[in-house]
Amino acid sequence: MPFNKIDVKKEQDGELILQAKNIKKYFPIKGGILRTTIGHVKAVDNVSIDIKKGETLGIVGESGSGKSTLGRVILRLLEPTEGQIIFENNDISHLGNRQLRDYRKNMQIVFQDPFASLNSKMSVAELIEEPLVVQTSLKKSERKEKAIELLEKVGLRAEDRLKYPHEFSGGQRQRISIARALALHPKFVICDEPVSALDVSIQAQVLNLMSDLQDEFNLTYLFISHDLSVVKHISNRVAVMYLGRIVEIAPKKNLYDQPLHPYTQALLSSAPTTNIQNRREKIILKGDLPSPANPPSGCAFRTRCPLVHEKCVEVRPELKGMGNGHFVSCHLHT
Ligand SMILES: Nc1ncnc2c1ncn2[C@@H]1O[C@H](COP(=O)(O)OP(=O)(O)OP(=O)(O)O)[C@@H](O)[C@H]1O
Ligand code: SF4
Ligand SMILES: [Mg+2]
Repeated sequence: MPFNKIDVKKEQDGELILQAKNIKKYFPIKGGILRTTIGHVKAVDNVSIDIKKGETLGIVGESGSGKSTLGRVILRLLEPTEGQIIFENNDISHLGNRQLRDYRKNMQIVFQDPFASLNSKMSVAELIEEPLVVQTSLKKSERKEKAIELLEKVGLRAEDRLKYPHEFSGGQRQRISIARALALHPKFVICDEPVSALDVSIQAQVLNLMSDLQDEFNLTYLFISHDLSVVKHISNRVAVMYLGRIVEIAPKKNLYDQPLHPYTQALLSSAPTTNIQNRREKIILKGDLPSPANPPSGCAFRTRCPLVHEKCVEVRPELKGMGNGHFVSCHLHT
């Protein structure tokens, strides 16, 4: 039996599809003539998340906060430095490529840049049918039928299958990426900034498509974005990352209406809103994100926090439950 069967806790409000436990991903920094390891970039530093079947968990944070690295480790596109990834009762943290093959069908990713993620030399038909060739025994005619069905599901036409990626707009290319990701009927899809490269007017169309497909295909999403309004549109719960850690996680309404962490409050204060009641006084954060190779002592946010106090320099705050699924890591909330 290659897999480590473990008990997955069932929560009152839904069965878990994925658990990431104490995930760390440290990238070595090489230096000197001998290129020895002189330090580590702590891209993800002890992150735990549970994702329920059918939900969308949004992940927000500044550039470099570790969102994509976390996504890639969860999909096992990157090996975790430490921690466990449990997908549908199976510990997949250390499976080899052959053992991972069966899971790859169920776990897919849609990337930000549909230019870079679609091979420009392949036709749309080849792009969508490629996963079917690799992972299924469907005949050529069946693959064609499937590709047409998928194209129509994402709002493109059957005849588009004969074209190449450069013949489409950014939004259409992202629709092709989505069709390709759904070809094997995955259960879990990581969406890594899927609309960030698109015009604002096109973003809503693609987000609506992703919501519709979620219902139709029973999908669970981990939705990564630096844009709070995009994440709000699609998520049930939202996690905020800062320097490789989750600083706050809550059901969407709680996070947007009553953010507890000073970093979340600052992010929300600078996000555009049309709702006058939700308009907050803008909090300007001083300085840049510190280097994940040399994070501050105590609370990693302390160098930019308007509410920093003595304890924050020395003691790292734990992520603590405040009730109703709202967790925060800040000494102001104990
Ligand atoms: N392969 C790698 N080798 C070394 N460092 C890396 C590698 N991949 C990512 N990093 C570093 O890890 C940190 C987190 O990067 P990551 O790409 O996960 O951030 P992100 O939140 O997705 O940012 P963005 O919003 O810009 O996509 C950054 O400091 C980045 O430079
Ligand atoms: S622990 Fe201190 S520095 Fe960190 S967010 Fe809370 S108040 Fe700010
Ligand atoms: Mg990223």
